[in-house]
Amino acid sequence: MRLAIMGAAGRMGRALIRAVQETDDCEVTGAVERTGSSFLGKDAGEVAGVGHLGVAIDSDPLPLFTHIEGVLDFTTPATSVATAALSAQARIVHVIGTTGFSPDDERKLEAAARHATIVKSGNMSLGVNLLAALLEQAARALDERFDVEILEMHHKHKVDAPSGTALLLGEAIAAGRSVALKDRSVRTRDGHTGERPQGAIGFASLRGGSVAGEHTVIFAGNGERLELTHRAENRDIFARGAVTAALWARGRGPGLFSMRDVLGIR
Ligand SMILES: NC(=O)c1ccc[n+]([C@@H]2O[C@H](COP(=O)([O-])OP(=O)(O)OC[C@H]3O[C@@H](n4cnc5c(N)ncnc54)[C@H](OP(=O)(O)O)[C@@H]3O)[C@@H](O)[C@H]2O)c1
Repeated sequence: MRLAIMGAAGRMGRALIRAVQETDDCEVTGAVERTGSSFLGKDAGEVAGVGHLGVAIDSDPLPLFTHIEGVLDFTTPATSVATAALSAQARIVHVIGTTGFSPDDERKLEAAARHATIVKSGNMSLGVNLLAALLEQAARALDERFDVEILEMHHKHKVDAPSGTALLLGEAIAAGRSVALKDRSVRTRDGHTGERPQGAIGFASLRGGSVAGEHTVIFAGNGERLELTHRAENRDIFARGAVTAALWARGRGPGLFSMRDVLGIR
């Protein structure tokens, strides 16, 4: 499968190049960075530490879309929305790992998915998607007398909060309780907040160091507490998931799919 990497010199971009090179039937045939990047013209393989690939990093994605079959994209919301429009025109696979989309961005991605085959997930790892399925079940079994808090920690360079993964887990809990996350989520607490509302789904974000991603979901009941934790030890788990998603989506019709569709976890 001929794949292009958006944000090829980024933390995830480099991990994606390594993952594609390790996978049979896949090759990196394009690499894109933003205009003005100091990586333009450099070889994508050398930047990712896998040796020379003969693929120079370019700032213009447009020419690539005539010959690629898919694009792996862990960049910024604006870049992913613009790339989705190109993927729709070319009717190809678009794997989106970017987080921090606004409701307006989400609507644009849904529109692009009428023609592109989009797999989008705030977390591409097997472990987190299994955790989401377990949480949905737990939330259904433990009613609103159990207070749910989602705690996440990430490296100091992360720009959005709560993490896309924390929101994905929150959505799974809300689905288990048949409520809308937007009506229940409490994202910040400061000062005299009053008592915790019953049924709230609380979020707390920690930032520091080089943490690839840790999430703990706490169900705090009267006299007992259940905690489920996922720890990402490196970024390769997300990159391998993205490549799996691209291969799964190849040959499928247009639509907006999640990693739980790819992994068959419902
Ligand atoms: N879904 C998952 O499993 C998962 C896992 C990890 C991370 N993420 C998400 O993936 C995203 C990227 O994370 P990261 O840690 O890799 O960030 P990062 O290191 O900042 O990488 C993003 C890359 O995209 C580049 N970029 C920005 N605008 C661009 C454009 N218009 N065209 C092409 N490239 C562009 C950036 O270039 P500059 O640095 O020059 O701006 C940078 O190299 C974040 O939203 C993060 O939350 C998702």
